[in-house]
Amino acid sequence: MTVLVLGATGATGRLLVQQLLDRGLKVKAIVRSCDTLPDSLRQHEGLSIITASVLDLSDIEMAEQVTGCEAVASCLGHNLTFQGIFGQPRRLVTDGAKRFCQAIRARGSGKPTKFVLMNTAGNSNRNLKEPISLAQSCVIGLLRLLVPPHRDNEEAADYLRTEVGQNDTEIQWVAVRPDSLFDEDDVSAYELHPSPTRSAIFNPGRTSRVNVAHFMADLITNHDAWEKWKGQMPVIYNKNEES
Ligand SMILES: NC(=O)c1ccc[n+]([C@@H]2O[C@H](COP(=O)([O-])OP(=O)(O)OC[C@H]3O[C@@H](n4cnc5c(N)ncnc54)[C@H](OP(=O)(O)O)[C@@H]3O)[C@@H](O)[C@H]2O)c1
Repeated sequence: MTVLVLGATGATGRLLVQQLLDRGLKVKAIVRSCDTLPDSLRQHEGLSIITASVLDLSDIEMAEQVTGCEAVASCLGHNLTFQGIFGQPRRLVTDGAKRFCQAIRARGSGKPTKFVLMNTAGNSNRNLKEPISLAQSCVIGLLRLLVPPHRDNEEAADYLRTEVGQNDTEIQWVAVRPDSLFDEDDVSAYELHPSPTRSAIFNPGRTSRVNVAHFMADLITNHDAWEKWKGQMPVIYNKNEES
C-alpha cells in the first residue's frame, strides 16, 4: 500500500511517515524542503519525496501524485510565525483537503481512497450535537474571527463532513481531533472519543504527537479502526495526562 502524506516535514507529519514506514508501507511525501526531515527518513527506501509547495501543484499534478495511493493523510498546519498565522495561504489546510479530494475523484480508481485529516479538539463535529458552554462558544467565535488558522481547521473538517459526506464512492474520511499537542518519544496509552469529553478552551486535555501519528497510521492500516471511525471526527487524548 502507498500513502501520500501532506505536511510530512511537520512535527506530527514526520512521526506519521515513520509510523507508516515502520509498518512496511510505501510513503510519498510532498514537502517544500526536505532539509528538516531526519536522515533516517530521507534515506529510507520506502519514502519518495516530491519537492513542491502543495498548493502550487496544478490539478493534473495532484491527480498524478494520488495515482497509486490508497490513502492520503494531511498533517498540514500553519507555521507559528506572524506570516504563517496571518499571511497567505490562509486556507492551507482546507484547500489542501479539497484539492486532493478533487484529485482523488479526477483519478477515479473505482474504490474508496482514505483521507485522514489532522484537525483539532477546538473544532466541533456539527453532525453531532456536541454541547459547548456559552463562554466557550464566545471564545471560539472570536478565534474564528481573529485567528485564520482556527477558521481554516474548521473549514477543512466542514468540507469533509458536508461536501464529501458519508456516501462518496471515491473518498472515505476521518478527521482526527487532538487536544493540546506535546512531544514525547514513544507511543503511550491513549483514549479515543467521538466527541470532546472536556473543554478545549477552559480545561484542555493533552495529546502527544506520536500518539496522533500512531492513531492516523492505525486508521490507514487497520480495517476495524477504519470501519469504526470513518466519516467521524474522533478526539484523541493521552491517558493519565493531567492538564
Ligand atoms: N498546537 C496544538 O496544540 C494543536 C492542537 C490540535 C491540533 N493542532 C493542529 O495540528 C496540525 C499539525 O500540527 P503540527 O504541530 O504537527 O504542525 P507543524 O509542525 O507546524 O507542521 C506543519 C506542516 O505544514 C507545512 N506547511 C506550513 N505552511 C505551509 C505552506 N504555506 N505550504 C505548504 N506546507 C506548509 C509545514 O511545512 P514546512 O516544514 O515546509 O514549514 C509542515 O510540514 C495543525 O493544523 C494544528 O492546527 C494543533
